[in-house]
Amino acid sequence: MKLLITGICGFVGSSLARYCKQADPNIEIAGIDNLIRPGTERNRAELNRIGIRMLHGDLRQASDLETLPACDWVIDAAANPSVLAGVDGKSSPRQLSEHNLVGTLNLLEYCRHHGAGLVMLSTSRVYSVRDLAALPTREAHHSFELDVSRIATSAVSLSGITEQFSTRAPISLYGATKLASEVMAQEYGLSFNFPVWINRCGVLAGAGQFGTAEQGIFSYWLHAHAARLKLRYIGFGGSGLQVRDAFHPDDLAALIAIQIRRDPPADPIFHASGGLANSMSLAQLTAWCDRQFGPHTPEPDLRPRPFDIPWMVMDSARARTELGWVPQRSLGSILTEIAEHVRAHPDWLARCGAV
Ligand SMILES: NC(=O)c1ccc[n+]([C@@H]2O[C@H](COP(=O)([O-])OP(=O)(O)OC[C@H]3O[C@@H](n4cnc5c(N)ncnc54)[C@H](O)[C@@H]3O)[C@@H](O)[C@H]2O)c1
Repeated sequence: MKLLITGICGFVGSSLARYCKQADPNIEIAGIDNLIRPGTERNRAELNRIGIRMLHGDLRQASDLETLPACDWVIDAAANPSVLAGVDGKSSPRQLSEHNLVGTLNLLEYCRHHGAGLVMLSTSRVYSVRDLAALPTREAHHSFELDVSRIATSAVSLSGITEQFSTRAPISLYGATKLASEVMAQEYGLSFNFPVWINRCGVLAGAGQFGTAEQGIFSYWLHAHAARLKLRYIGFGGSGLQVRDAFHPDDLAALIAIQIRRDPPADPIFHASGGLANSMSLAQLTAWCDRQFGPHTPEPDLRPRPFDIPWMVMDSARARTELGWVPQRSLGSILTEIAEHVRAHPDWLARCGAV
């Protein structure tokens, strides 16, 4: 089996590459990355060391894909993954679209040319911010929880948001590039007869993630807490009650390993996420950090931030029932892994340009 992993020097791309190589040393893995994210050079060196070929290239540039080797499957893990991309002044909306949408189109041309299958890493950010914000919640145990007695849509189960949830605007420019990429990927697959799987991923977390306050929040929070950097509970009353679920990239790799050995169903969109058991509020995360690194109290910041939502937990029942996939890593074990990384790399946030 030959794999091409885009964004191979990023957090998810490099984790997938390591996992696949370890699971099957005979697998041929090549990767492409433009190293635009600070810190990714570090992963390049490590991948080289374990014999994985990384080609420096930019998915925005069609000609950069012309010399890539043929493969059986492309795993697309290259993107600007911040929900504030295009509106935060750090990247322009055009740049965001070029990385996340034009990049996908160039990759689809690669798949068409080589007859390669595609596993696309999409996101929970394709879902309507307004409809998510309108979900009934109540306060319990220093967190918001879903008030299941008041759920008025079948697109939300007792275990969270399902793949049927509304994708109407606003979903953020980032979410829009991903949703548009999903549509194009499916149409290309059907028109040119190559398999496409789409994994709408929840928050991914683990050691070595390039966290910022906007993206990679679990990693960022632990590093910033340990370094006594200023932390803020933004919006929602400033108490840190907002909840997200998280899962580990090794579990994503296990899901992809199942997918690339079979044909996708007619509807190839699946949730991949930690689910309720792996969910936590920011206030609960702070309490966990206090026990690990000593007390450090975030400041309330009552101003809402665009696209923030009070409660987001994804139900991945479809992946469980149809593919037999259940994430194995508990949130506790993921946080412990990140905490070890924090202790070994106290300057991590500076190294990856997050502060
Ligand atoms: N991390 C999460 O919580 C999360 C959640 C849902 C979905 N995802 C998706 O997973 C994928 C990987 O995310 P990540 O957390 O590893 O991000 P990351 O920023 O760590 O990695 C992205 C990699 O892509 C590279 N890249 C960006 N633009 C490129 C381009 N035009 N050409 C070539 N390389 C380019 C970057 O240099 C980086 O190495 C993304 O598609 C993201 O949208 C991530």
